[in-house]
Amino acid sequence: MKSYNIAVIGGDGTGPEVVREAIKVLDAAAPKHGVKLNYTYFDFGGDRYLRTGEVLPDSAVPELRKFPAVLLGAIGHPDVKPGILEKGILLRMRFEMEQYINLRPVRLYDERFCPLKDRTPEDIDFVVVRENNEGLYTGAGGFVFKGTPHEVAIQESVNTRRGVERCLRYAFEYARKRRGGQPWKGLKPDEVKGGKTAQLTLCGKTNVLTYAFDLWERAFNEIGPRDYPTIKRDYAHVDATTMWFVKNPEWFDVIVTDNMFGDIITDLGAMIQGGMGIAAGGNINPQGTSMFEPIGGSAPKYTGKNVINPLAAVCAGAMMMDFLGETNMAQAIENAVIRTVREKLKSLAAGKMGCGTKEVGDLVASTV
Ligand code: IPM
Ligand code: MN
Repeated sequence: MKSYNIAVIGGDGTGPEVVREAIKVLDAAAPKHGVKLNYTYFDFGGDRYLRTGEVLPDSAVPELRKFPAVLLGAIGHPDVKPGILEKGILLRMRFEMEQYINLRPVRLYDERFCPLKDRTPEDIDFVVVRENNEGLYTGAGGFVFKGTPHEVAIQESVNTRRGVERCLRYAFEYARKRRGGQPWKGLKPDEVKGGKTAQLTLCGKTNVLTYAFDLWERAFNEIGPRDYPTIKRDYAHVDATTMWFVKNPEWFDVIVTDNMFGDIITDLGAMIQGGMGIAAGGNINPQGTSMFEPIGGSAPKYTGKNVINPLAAVCAGAMMMDFLGETNMAQAIENAVIRTVREKLKSLAAGKMGCGTKEVGDLVASTV
């Protein structure tokens, strides 16, 4: 029996409700895979901040670092000014635990729920590797003459060779391992014959952001051929990427991009896979504590109504098990989600699923 200690942060809004269902499913699957999960709950979030005035206690990150993984619901509260909780809790945890990868799979489970015409699960099956510690998110910059007519606001994008390179390497490795060495279906026969197994697309803006993405592109083209010769390299500007997501999503295998672009394109990715109700992500520190979350927000208007879709949180739980090395358990949970989506649900949207939050959790737990 393998035992794992998991930190749980339900957080704000619908966060605690969806995390509860994720844990229900994890606990249903665990004994079948010889796994035991021990949960420790933390109350970080908007309510705690409003009650105590403290965003995140200094003891939080050292405490969380003792766990191999964190399961997070959502951070964001309607009564707290935007930025305070996001920067003070979510980004602080991502940065201080050096979760330098934000891994966001985009997979369509059922064509009924794709807003694109005539698209099948075959067509929409890629992964975005978003840099998670740098770029526009570091908070570098500031105001000059704030509140006056000559006010200046500067927000700088930080791109270090070390930060970019570790992200690219993770993406190359991920692309290589993704299909267990089986070639990706989008490769041409001569590419497969030439030994290629996967494709990694760098998503950037080399035509305008000529410093930041120059560094990204140089690093990509240096380390790719040298250290990952089986991966086909591809490049797309971020604006074109959003176009291809809609027009030809089957062109993508693995995409690597900076923090801001990754944030934007993964919301679009979530929509083409069926919506925020199903989209999960992992904030990964490959050597440390990683944190898994549904990528949608706290959805205040749905809070406490048993209408929110918990499957994104359930899928985050599956990603967590995969990170912990329990690949069979992770796969079993994903398969149970697919069965539930295909056989039981009317929609993936809050309030329209044909049953409630708890019932969706029950359905997955009963088939896992
Ligand atoms: C996400 C969210 C966060 C981000 C916000 C809440 C700070 O949109 O996880 O994608 O921008 O990274
Ligand atoms: Mn986002």
